[in-house]
Amino acid sequence: MDLSILLILILLSLVVFAALFFLQSWTSPKTMDKIPGSLGWPIVGESFSFLSDFASPSGIAGFMKKRQHRYGKVFKTFVLGRFTVFMTGREASKILLTGKDGIVSLNLFYTGRQVLGPNSLLHTTGEAHKKVRRLIAEPLSVDGLKKYFHFINNQAIRTLDNWLGRTVFVLEEASTFTLKVIGNMIMSLEPEGEEQEKFRSNFKFISSSFASVPLKIPGTAFYDGIKARDRMYSMLDSIISRRRSGQSFQQDFLESLIMKHSTEGDGENTDDKLTDSQLKDNILTLLIAGHDTTCATLTWVIKFLEENPNVLEQLREEHAQIQSKRTDGETNLTWSEVNSMHFTNKVINETLRQSPVLPWLSRKAVQDFEIDGYKIKKGWSINLDVGSIHHDPEIFSQPQKFDPSRFDAPVKPFTFLGFGSGPRMCPGMNLARIEICVFVHHLVTRYKWRALEKDESVQPTLVQMPRNKYPIVVDQL
Ligand code: HEM
Repeated sequence: MDLSILLILILLSLVVFAALFFLQSWTSPKTMDKIPGSLGWPIVGESFSFLSDFASPSGIAGFMKKRQHRYGKVFKTFVLGRFTVFMTGREASKILLTGKDGIVSLNLFYTGRQVLGPNSLLHTTGEAHKKVRRLIAEPLSVDGLKKYFHFINNQAIRTLDNWLGRTVFVLEEASTFTLKVIGNMIMSLEPEGEEQEKFRSNFKFISSSFASVPLKIPGTAFYDGIKARDRMYSMLDSIISRRRSGQSFQQDFLESLIMKHSTEGDGENTDDKLTDSQLKDNILTLLIAGHDTTCATLTWVIKFLEENPNVLEQLREEHAQIQSKRTDGETNLTWSEVNSMHFTNKVINETLRQSPVLPWLSRKAVQDFEIDGYKIKKGWSINLDVGSIHHDPEIFSQPQKFDPSRFDAPVKPFTFLGFGSGPRMCPGMNLARIEICVFVHHLVTRYKWRALEKDESVQPTLVQMPRNKYPIVVDQL
């Protein structure tokens, strides 16, 4: 190449880069200057580093750790087109999760917003959000869940019946178990058969599209997710119309919303009623929000128990005692027994403290406000780093130790965030706890197990799950 052309090209590149840097510093808010961290390259920011860490074995924790090491626990970045501040500490937790006076909203990816539809409670704020929360509170309360206990119990037993003497990928089994439970709870779906298979396959497409590349062309995860969502909605439409016409009646979550609260069609909704669209968007929201979180937690619980034999022994004791109190030759687990598994619940808490399945909780500033002296501007993303709070030795002593007894006494508000806190605290917490308690009861009273690999890698997903799906071999106790 001619030397002069090369020089012109170099000069042109320099001008383009200078212009981009100028654009970056011109568009990046001056208020950000006071927050440590880097906004990275013009336009792309630190997106490549974010995405490569996201896909790495240590997952997004790697991205956060590197920057915390360099800048401290609070740092700014520019990723995926968003000015973002990572924060930690009780004060930030309280302000962000209480969201007082509507200062923040939930911060979903574009694809997630599209897949869930506009009426999902994840999009709504203020009164609209409270209304949906009110409607789902009763069916998801401990009393409201009692009627699903037999189904959950039978499915746990049936799942574990197949475990003996073979290599089991716990995450896969937990996924099948929890999907059957939620499908049955929401719309009385039978655990086997064609409908279950369709449900499962549609669900997998939807779930994979939730945080995918926002390209809606055939063959992409986003496109497949939207198509699967449409199929799922057709399935729900036909179930809803059969229920409304009286052709079928079931005592499930859908029925409780149809009977009490929903109006036909998509017209104006009155105060305590949901339109069909609101009903479908929120049922899908519960499925999406409830599935990966529960099966990941169940898998981590089983992993932590294997790695902490003393805790496993203590847990076995709780379950042996439950069994020993049974009279009249009764061998079945009962509802009241599930509600007496105090130590098991502490194990669930400790699992979520050590390994929060949602490692950060993301919000978008709806107005300007201040946290810990840092000025936050409207439109920024603020990610609350749950892992740092859960591993702060001033909040949880010896944070690396797996010690369920730290939950013997109530912990300070806004410090344990395994199920979140404030108005968006997990509404499915009771269901998740019941599923895990029932499953763990049958597991520890029948089997012992051994991990086949020692691998701490996580999957490149929003919900933290073991990358190797946690393979184990199982033996009779
Ligand atoms: C062990 C299992 C679970 C864990 C660890 C978990 C964790 C969480 C966390 C941390 C949040 C708060 C998110 C935030 O503040 O940004 C949340 C919210 C939510 N969870 Fe769960 N969850 C679990 C199971 C479930 C289940 C079974 C359901 C449904 C039946 C469910 C439905 C939801 C919904 C709808 C929200 C959003 C609430 C709102 O925005 O008002 N979750 N969950």
